[in-house]
Amino acid sequence: MEQQFAALRAEYSAAGLSEADLTPEPVALFRRWFDEVGVLPEPNAMVLSTVGVDGRPSSRAVLLKGVDERGFVFFTNYDSRKGLELNDRPDCALLFPWHPLQRQVRVEGRAERVSLTESAAYFATRPRGAQLGAWASPQSQVVSAEELASSYADAEARFPDQVPVPGHWGGYVVLPDVVEFWQGRPNRMHDRWRYRRHGDGWVTERLAP
Ligand SMILES: Cc1cc2nc3c(=O)[nH]c(=O)nc-3n(C[C@H](O)[C@H](O)[C@H](O)COP(=O)(O)O)c2cc1C
Repeated sequence: MEQQFAALRAEYSAAGLSEADLTPEPVALFRRWFDEVGVLPEPNAMVLSTVGVDGRPSSRAVLLKGVDERGFVFFTNYDSRKGLELNDRPDCALLFPWHPLQRQVRVEGRAERVSLTESAAYFATRPRGAQLGAWASPQSQVVSAEELASSYADAEARFPDQVPVPGHWGGYVVLPDVVEFWQGRPNRMHDRWRYRRHGDGWVTERLAP
């Protein structure tokens, strides 16, 4: 192993996560941790992993735009690599890598498209440039800079006022069935609590670090 990486070793000493801290369901604990995120840059950035029909996994960052009793919401291009993969195989995973807090949250579940109404409501809050970008960019396709620029100019000309939601763009909600909260502890004896969906409720289990 390269010395430079091998020597990198933070000691985790923040407060632990005990059974008494657990909420009956994981979204409430996720919200509490999110409230404690503080000054982290882009705390709502999460790593989304999907799987292709060939079984090949891939990961990318997306922004969490909502969390509620259903699960975790993000928006994207439905025809992108991730969109096409989720169409074929909705199983996916999310990771919130909150390293400065010595915390991570892992989610496993299934992605479902949100309603058109919900996508349109969020799209309307985006800046005009981002709205036009959603029309102009065939996300995940091979393109030239010229094609992209001309497709953005076309979108600008086509929608001088209001920009409607493109049919290929919208939200997903990841419905969790496993959520793990990881809190760094001294001597690598970290606290890990896993919520597993069980019937209408959740079971919680401590995992070895
Ligand atoms: C911090 C961060 C946030 C991002 N948020 C989003 C997002 O909310 N939606 C999205 O489609 N892409 C987002 N991206 C871009 C994706 O990581 C990715 O490049 C893009 O969605 C294409 O992924 P795909 O080809 O695997 O479908 C974000 C990238 C970064 C670095």
